[in-house]
Amino acid sequence: MEILKTPEEMRAWRRALPVSLGLTPTMGYLHEGHLSLVRRSLAENEASVASIFVNPTQFGPNEDFDRYPRDEEGDLRQLRELGVDAVYLPSVETMYPEGYQTYVTVEGLSQGLEGRSRPVHFRGVATVVTKLLIAVGPDRAYFGKKDAQQLRVIRRLARDLDLPTEIVGCDTVREEGGLAMSSRNAYLSREQRAAALVLSRALAEAEARFAEGVRSAEVLRVIVSGTVGAEPQGELDYVSVADSETLAEIEGDIEGVALLSLAARFGPVRLIDNVTLGEGA
Ligand code: PAJ
Repeated sequence: MEILKTPEEMRAWRRALPVSLGLTPTMGYLHEGHLSLVRRSLAENEASVASIFVNPTQFGPNEDFDRYPRDEEGDLRQLRELGVDAVYLPSVETMYPEGYQTYVTVEGLSQGLEGRSRPVHFRGVATVVTKLLIAVGPDRAYFGKKDAQQLRVIRRLARDLDLPTEIVGCDTVREEGGLAMSSRNAYLSREQRAAALVLSRALAEAEARFAEGVRSAEVLRVIVSGTVGAEPQGELDYVSVADSETLAEIEGDIEGVALLSLAARFGPVRLIDNVTLGEGA
């Protein structure tokens, strides 16, 4: 397994290997959710690269960049065991050298939901993902549906910038009990982790009501906020029922496909989760 540290090294490796290539971008501290993306890349491409880079520009000033969990050695071991061909591991100085001033902004899609609580987040994500796609030059890149708004922002930027990479969305991997896997789950106490099960339970409840024929977006939002609100350890940030493509909040009845998503705080940890109502993702 090659370890490549600069865009120049990455590009040279890619040029020497003109086969179908899959990329899985990550911020490391890998769990089964990440590994499911890597496995899909391995299955669908002749060669696969994973990137590990904790991207400072997607963290707000009061967010957890410095405390973000890191385990480079463990991550590399897991990627080697899976059979990844190369790992792109740039430094912050390589990605953002002194004088750096270019950013990619996906305007409408970045504004609601997570964008409201995290105003610079998607500008950082869009910028780093564009840089990764340019350096690696993959045919396909793999992203989780757990970060539903991120997936839509990345699809949009790839389309808008005519990038030649297919963006592949992969299902959310959950722990037993339903909690969506996340590197940040490491910071939950045992009690908080148990309390956080309310998120997937509330989403499943709304899904069941939707399956029974409930179409009012507001009724579904009330079901979810009522269930999460009943958990004293959780502090709900938002519940959204939005058009799955545009992410515009739905006011009346759901007609096409909707994204039901939420964010909530459990102690120091902010968690997000979502389900799609209707077809698609
Ligand atoms: P990170 O949080 O490390 O996640 C890397 C990828 O794994 C993302 O596409 C994310 O959606 C996916 N993922 C995380 N948890 C998952 C789960 N439980 N099931 C399925 N997929 C899951 O997301 C980022 O990093 C960054 O924003 C990044 C895209 C790398 C840009 O810096």
